[in-house]
Amino acid sequence: MENLSERHEEKFIFLETFGCQMNENDSDRMLGFLKDIKYTRTDRPENADLIIINTCSIRDKAEQKVYSTLGRFRELKKERPWLIIGVSGCVAQQEGAALLKRAPYLDIVLGPHNIHKLKGYLNEVSLERKRVVSTELYDSIEFGEYSYTPVQTGIKAFVSIMRGCNNFCSYCIVPYTRGREVSRQVSDIVEEVVRLARSGVKEVTLIGQNVNSYGGGGLEFPGLLREVARVACIERVRFITSHPKDISEELIYLFKYEPKLCRHIHLPAQSGSDEILKRMRRGYSIEEYRAKVEKIKGLYPDFAITTDIIVGFPGESDLDFERTMELIESVRFDNIFSFMYSPRPKTKAAVMDGHVPLEIRSERLRILQEKQRDITLKRSLELAGKKVEVLVEGRSKGSGLEISGRTSCNRIVNFPGPEDLTGCLAEVVITDVFPNSLRGELVKPFGRNNLN
Ligand code: 5AD
Ligand code: SF4
Repeated sequence: MENLSERHEEKFIFLETFGCQMNENDSDRMLGFLKDIKYTRTDRPENADLIIINTCSIRDKAEQKVYSTLGRFRELKKERPWLIIGVSGCVAQQEGAALLKRAPYLDIVLGPHNIHKLKGYLNEVSLERKRVVSTELYDSIEFGEYSYTPVQTGIKAFVSIMRGCNNFCSYCIVPYTRGREVSRQVSDIVEEVVRLARSGVKEVTLIGQNVNSYGGGGLEFPGLLREVARVACIERVRFITSHPKDISEELIYLFKYEPKLCRHIHLPAQSGSDEILKRMRRGYSIEEYRAKVEKIKGLYPDFAITTDIIVGFPGESDLDFERTMELIESVRFDNIFSFMYSPRPKTKAAVMDGHVPLEIRSERLRILQEKQRDITLKRSLELAGKKVEVLVEGRSKGSGLEISGRTSCNRIVNFPGPEDLTGCLAEVVITDVFPNSLRGELVKPFGRNNLN
């Protein structure tokens, strides 16, 4: 087979990413590692020398989706015999060698702990005509896993601070696909943030399945946040995901003293019913959850609080669902991400009694989402006439005449203004409210203001 490096200097990768921020970050790392061997991203698979599908298996039909996506690329290999096709992410981890069997044209199956080995595998495939399955899970972070060259992606970036999860919520596949929890060292993380800041990033989001249990190099999560906020040229710091059982008073109070911390917290409740929370193995009661939310709202009335909800978990009765509705009506979350329960391989919930029929699950989801749409709109209307701080991300997608950015609370704001404000903080007054975005007028550009 032809040697890729001899064929031409520049090579193209087509990369499709499904799922969560962890996967987005793994994709960024892949692109970064590949940049060193002169791969450039393309949005046209027919031009690609390498195609990778970075998969998610958190909810249903993930595997089927992968096979149908792969099918689209099968023909391309006939025209471009040197084309390498890989599957990475949670479906790769879950299915392993079975993927190679079902898709004979697939070359690489790459689990989430092995992203940094991709460069080596490309050689094995192109020079030695091997097919590779790399799905080992490790209890520690290997040297070099995060030493990638950032690929300029704009002014925002995700930084992974830990991986894996030890919680084993009964519905969740993550502990099986991403392994046990392990934290990166503070110094490593800060170095990565500095590299990103040098490449123009202004906002970092620290990501982990359960950031509140971070513990790397002697610092807990609030300590790490302080260190990251200290990095020059980084204007904003966000983090996801917080587990309600682990969020500490120290973290809650940190927002008082750390102006770069964005005023938004994502706190997945999953259900409003104690009975269901127990069956989910979430480790908190709904009273405990509410107490934490009330504390945050009491201290910071301007804060955005968002959550995840699963409807139709096994054993969820009409009354349990009503409790969830009561929760979202009383807390008035700024937004929720809501899902129908879907049984996942290996999980405890998949073999529980009381599976809820699809029609009921989908009806509950519809009711929940309709209610939340109304709440989200009303919460947005409360912002009309107010001044907010926007980090400008560039030209607005909808209207070529406007620029667009997000508030500290993570709401999208479009407003007329020059494109060269990109990467700057601007003070904007909100004039119009739409279901998924806000519109405003520029008050003053540049500089951190004292609006929170
Ligand atoms: N079914 C439905 N939703 C799920 N989530 C995780 N596992 C499942 C599942 N088996 C949801 C949870 C989690 C979010 C990332 O995905 O709400 O917080
Ligand atoms: Fe899954 Fe629960 Fe871990 Fe979140 S905390 S990743 S829901 S097991």
